[in-house]
Amino acid sequence: MSISGNEIRQKYIDFMVKNGHVAIPSAALVPDNDPTTLFTSSGMQPLIPYLMGEEHPSGTRLVNSQKCFRADDIDEVGDNRHTTFFEMLGNWSLGDYFKQEQLTFFYTFLVDEVGLDPEKIYVTVFQGDEANNVPRDTEAVEIWQRLFAKSGVSSDVGEMGSEEAAGRRGMHQNERIFYYDAAKNWWTRAGKIEKMPVGEIGGPDSEVFYDFATAHDQKWGEHCHPNCDCGRFLEIGNSVFMQYIKTEAGFEKLPKRNVDFGGGLERIAAAANRDGDVFKIDLLDCVVAQIEQLSAKKYEENLEAFRIITDHIRGAVFMIGDGVLPGNTEQSYFVRRLLRRAVRYADIIGIPAGELKNLAESIITMYGDHYVNLETNKKQIKHAIELEEEQFRKTLENGLKQFNKISLQVHLTSKEVDGKKVIDTSAPPVQKQAISAQNAFYLFTTYGFPIELTSEIAAEKGLIVDRKGFEKLMEVHREKSRAGAEHKFKGGLADSSEKVVRLHSANHLMLAGLQKELGGHVHQAGSNITGERLRYDFTHPEKVERDVLDRVEEYVNNAIKEGGLVTMEIVPKTVAEKDPTVEASFWDRYPDDVKIYTMTTYSGTVVSRELCGGPHVEKLEDIAGTFKIIKEESSSAGVRRVKAVLE
Ligand code: ALA
Repeated sequence: MSISGNEIRQKYIDFMVKNGHVAIPSAALVPDNDPTTLFTSSGMQPLIPYLMGEEHPSGTRLVNSQKCFRADDIDEVGDNRHTTFFEMLGNWSLGDYFKQEQLTFFYTFLVDEVGLDPEKIYVTVFQGDEANNVPRDTEAVEIWQRLFAKSGVSSDVGEMGSEEAAGRRGMHQNERIFYYDAAKNWWTRAGKIEKMPVGEIGGPDSEVFYDFATAHDQKWGEHCHPNCDCGRFLEIGNSVFMQYIKTEAGFEKLPKRNVDFGGGLERIAAAANRDGDVFKIDLLDCVVAQIEQLSAKKYEENLEAFRIITDHIRGAVFMIGDGVLPGNTEQSYFVRRLLRRAVRYADIIGIPAGELKNLAESIITMYGDHYVNLETNKKQIKHAIELEEEQFRKTLENGLKQFNKISLQVHLTSKEVDGKKVIDTSAPPVQKQAISAQNAFYLFTTYGFPIELTSEIAAEKGLIVDRKGFEKLMEVHREKSRAGAEHKFKGGLADSSEKVVRLHSANHLMLAGLQKELGGHVHQAGSNITGERLRYDFTHPEKVERDVLDRVEEYVNNAIKEGGLVTMEIVPKTVAEKDPTVEASFWDRYPDDVKIYTMTTYSGTVVSRELCGGPHVEKLEDIAGTFKIIKEESSSAGVRRVKAVLE
């Protein structure tokens, strides 16, 4: 192998630092202050406030490798490129450089640092969008042409339009730069330009693809092209020119022109390896090789099982490393699903029981130098995996006995409509053994059977599962366990609305009030704010009585009533860490330079001083409202949870 995944990560960070960037740490997989999304799924997510105009303590040029998790991809794992966990190399310009520098940086990195052959590199650009009045990106095309010309490779431009049109047209000789429509070359967390809510940011992008020169599969369209899904081309990086915000009146320019770049580390490593299988890069191959030994089976003959086990173990290791243990609620359920599915596949290919923790150890060794929290938490991670495997093996036996069969009338005949397969409801239904939604739900709640597991076992027994009905029951279950109030958008939209900002500032005052009443051992353990309410976890061993909560409320309300200033300073983390007046938890999640927000009443009393990324109100009176703590309960051992509102 030419260059290792760890080396590529380091080279990228070094290269960008050489070009004036400051390296910032990866945020946790579970967002700290963003209740709208379960997982960090792209490098830009933790940087939203800064892309929207907030000042970043490390300046205007940032770089990192961000841990990401895409829960939606769990069912896709098994092919040569889908994984749930992945690392996104990212660099950002916050109103600093723009297209010329960005495209040059990435191209130079790929060709000079990683050593990719320019002949294998293909790029796409935004063709423009009349409906939204956004012009086509001719500037990016000119930059790319100059870059390719320097390497002596031809780069004619192809007009692709939509993905379907591209499949009909194909690529013409010497073409290397392709215009696609907004569905392909516009980036927003909402997924599509039409789906962007007011307040959301987005922009045209330019993607880079690597050509693995495999044969085209016509299942994906008549001709191949960079955005074709046949596997010949793999997207290895995307430069987003983050320049627009959606308003009531349409798209407006953001105050600053930003660059948001994201590139898949594993995929770049696969390109360097000249093999489109990401499981063959060293970061993952360490586990694949170990599974070969343990199972005495060959990877090439058991691709799906090997890939699922490898991906799921890595995902679980990183999740547990970030403090998410297997369980039945929210994020914890994903960790459970990953591990239980890994156990199932381990059984299928004959890995002896109890070995998952040892696969986890290989991951920790491979990644531990860069993600030191994995080494630090190694014992807990291995233990949690061992425990989950044991528990699952016990429940598996009991659960299997519960596989009640019921009979359902189902339509099994399909027909083609507009080239798509649909169920033919006019054909007579067939009597089929099935697992009802209620049974699947029962298996989940009582035996911890993730739905994929139920479906997989059912398939082995020739049964079908009412998955739709199950999802409906799950939705009701989630609503209940979430106490109703919050919404989660697909793809996750952080909310910087005025209400959220006001509650966020009130949150700082509340923590200061809790410390005043309960003592300095109180620190943040988790925070989750929506427009409706604040949910806050903090370290404290026992119940907080109502009269104490009343005094905390009074502390907050007095500050709001009196009013005062919220000021921000940027200082080196090493300095802040030594300042006893600064409140903070999770020091390792902050960059080298940090922001401290200080709240001072007009009479000169400092009522809060805390490390934070922002944003906050400018004046205490802008919190505007009466602060109320409406609930206090246990969250986990040694951690209490309160819910509070502004009325
Ligand atoms: N945010 C961009 C992406 O995820 C870079 O592709």
